Amino acid sequence: MSSRSRACSLFALILSFMSAGTMLESRAAFATSDAVRNQLAKKDCVRGKFKDYYRQAEGGDPPAGYSGRVYKLSQTYPNQLSPMENYPWLKIGFKDGGPVDPRAYLQALLDYGLEGNVEVDFYVEDNKKRKWYGMPWMDWNTEVASDWPGTDGREFVHGLTHEFDSSGQTLSTLQNTFVDTWSNGYFNDRAAFGIGQVYCDPDDPHPGALNPDPAGLNNMANGSFVIKLLFSTVNEHQLPIVKNAIEWNAHVYVNEDPRWRNQGPISRYERATKLIRLIQIDVSVRDERSTTGWLMGTFGYDENAKGATAWKRMVPLGLQWGNSPKVTYVETCSGPNGPCDRKKLTEQWINETAAKELTTAPLNFNHLGYAGRLAGPVDNPKASCMGCHQTAGFPGVAILPEFSANGGLLKLDGAKQPQTEQSFRMMYYGDVASGVVFSDVQLYSSDYSLQLSMSLQNFISLRCTPKAQEANAPKPPICGQLAQWGAAQRKAIRDLMSFGTPGPDGAPIPPKAVDR
Ligand code: HEC
Repeated sequence: MSSRSRACSLFALILSFMSAGTMLESRAAFATSDAVRNQLAKKDCVRGKFKDYYRQAEGGDPPAGYSGRVYKLSQTYPNQLSPMENYPWLKIGFKDGGPVDPRAYLQALLDYGLEGNVEVDFYVEDNKKRKWYGMPWMDWNTEVASDWPGTDGREFVHGLTHEFDSSGQTLSTLQNTFVDTWSNGYFNDRAAFGIGQVYCDPDDPHPGALNPDPAGLNNMANGSFVIKLLFSTVNEHQLPIVKNAIEWNAHVYVNEDPRWRNQGPISRYERATKLIRLIQIDVSVRDERSTTGWLMGTFGYDENAKGATAWKRMVPLGLQWGNSPKVTYVETCSGPNGPCDRKKLTEQWINETAAKELTTAPLNFNHLGYAGRLAGPVDNPKASCMGCHQTAGFPGVAILPEFSANGGLLKLDGAKQPQTEQSFRMMYYGDVASGVVFSDVQLYSSDYSLQLSMSLQNFISLRCTPKAQEANAPKPPICGQLAQWGAAQRKAIRDLMSFGTPGPDGAPIPPKAVDR
């Protein structure tokens, strides 16, 4: 065969791959139907086995004398998808992958998320209108305090987990010390179906079963919805607009300074019941009409807003349905600290009045997210809602460019020079389609649910340890899969170091020599 004909046949081969690819693409355009999800769903699932809160029955239970209500994880996940309701947001039309009236769309999401839940203080199992659920394994959560595993886990009053701590001056010029964020997410029945499939056997999670159809994208069904309440230990002297906000009791850290706690010992993570205030509400929804398949939006509490109740004084801040992947930092922001002109970011809506008010003293929320993309006041200013959330998957990966191993190699500095290394940073501001993995080191997508990817990581952190296995606990297959994954990653890196390097006889270096 001449080299030319070989080239031709190679070309033909590439063409045939391409057409196979196109065929797959057109098939995938038809998202898995409810009927198929239901037909392939596992039905003999075991329910009720997950812990409710941090160190339950291991010293973390409410102290004697505590007379308040104790959080119970709503975990009777449905084995069948209940039909889509006539959701209020479906009435709003879409154009170019986003809603024609984003403000009305966002409000419809909030109203749905609050309906029946407000009356029961978000003890959602009591909701009279519809069923709501929580994510397993958040009782043992490692999110912020990575040196003290599990300590971010659910407190026992409302099941809130510990999140970002805001240092002095972050929220207002009157805030001089650290304040801590505590939050919880609540999933509707359509989202809970997917969670229940992943955890059909509580001792043997299958991250790839979020969609029971192996031929479909690993995503939640259309109409899946999550509402997340974010509370802060901040008070009205530190942040005047939290006056008359929703106040809950929660069993949270006595000392609010993470620098002090992190030095240990673990007794510095002591908790006590305190009042905390609702300052932000996040919502996210699977809507197949969106560019990415998801929309994410946020509200902030403002005591000066119109509204008879604190829930009504939650002011919409913005909604995102994509990251506007081609828009680099310099195209919107004039320097590392802005100002940023958001007009080019067409896959989001920002409430400009609210955004301006947030920066007016004494308020000090002087940021949205990366290059003007949407992020909440208690989120990282170098992130965006969809930027962080599209990374959700198993195994988990860095949720921000600065956190990735490459962040150090590229000398990324989000605070001083966010305009540099755009080819790498902008990977985080692409538009990952619902159910597709973000990175080639991930095996399964968790479809924008960072709680699901964290939940799986939390499971692994206790159930795959040699100690757990010595104790004769069942050995979940996911542990073996992760071990194999680790070996494959290491081999891939070794191979890359020697690929194409000839050995002494001109042949490649034998793998054994490389493996040493
Ligand atoms: C810096 C990264 C980051 C940014 C930015 C971010 N989130 Fe999240 N979000 C997380 C993590 C991590 C979790 C899971 C931990 C938790 O809920 O305790 C989460 C959880 C959630 C959940 C609960 C459902 C789930 O499993 O993901 C919702 C809803 C949510 N975020 C919405 C939003 C919205 C809306 C925005 C933008 C206003 C936003 N997030 C911005 C990191 C981020």
